[in-house]
Amino acid sequence: MEIKANTIESWMKFIRFHPDLAERYMDCFWGSQLESKARLLIELEKMPNMRGPLYIFGGWYGVLTQMVLDSLDFNPEWIYSIDIDPQCEWVFNDVISREHNATAVTADCATYKYPIIPSVVINTVTEHLRQDDYDMWWNNVPRGTSFFLQGNNYFDNEEHVRCSKTIEDFLYISNVENEYIQGMSQWMFAGPNDKQYERFMVWGVKK
Ligand SMILES: C[S@@+](CC[C@H](N)C(=O)[O-])C[C@H]1O[C@@H](n2cnc3c(N)ncnc32)[C@H](O)[C@@H]1O
Repeated sequence: MEIKANTIESWMKFIRFHPDLAERYMDCFWGSQLESKARLLIELEKMPNMRGPLYIFGGWYGVLTQMVLDSLDFNPEWIYSIDIDPQCEWVFNDVISREHNATAVTADCATYKYPIIPSVVINTVTEHLRQDDYDMWWNNVPRGTSFFLQGNNYFDNEEHVRCSKTIEDFLYISNVENEYIQGMSQWMFAGPNDKQYERFMVWGVKK
């Protein structure tokens, strides 16, 4: 994983000039947030079709988009970062250079319409989606698409409406069938007050 110097500059600039948004923005930079993105990038780089259109659902302020842009030797032909919060699109456009092949979109992932057939979809906000919304999102992922899903057992966070106790539960509520799976992992992270939680990731191809 690589982070370019001008990326660090643009992240710090955003914090410097937007003190009203800085606290929320900095939530993207907790160690466990960065670790989950780094783990994803290691696997994404191995995917043979990772140069096709890439869709990041719950793309938040674009930190994962920027990490992909900085890290991959051959960037995807286009990255779409989709988030339901319009402020995310505004921040994304303020921070990420227009020279990159990346667009922020304000949309609900449950009803999102793909402008181009996806090569890879990433959903790092599965714990933020109600089951019906997740199911709509998953059913809309075309067969043959590579996917990455992340979730966790951090039930104590009030924004989390759909956590899983174990990775088996996570696979079950994610509708991921065994034949789709190329890999999965789980790891511990410290939440507020140093309480330990677990993150889950599964990747593969929807068949
Ligand atoms: C706290 S953030 C991201 C947390 C996640 N662990 C990560 O690092 O990607 C959750 C994001 O999900 C977005 N979100 C929640 N529901 C959504 C939906 N239905 N469609 C798209 N984005 C959604 C929120 O607006 C927010 O930006």
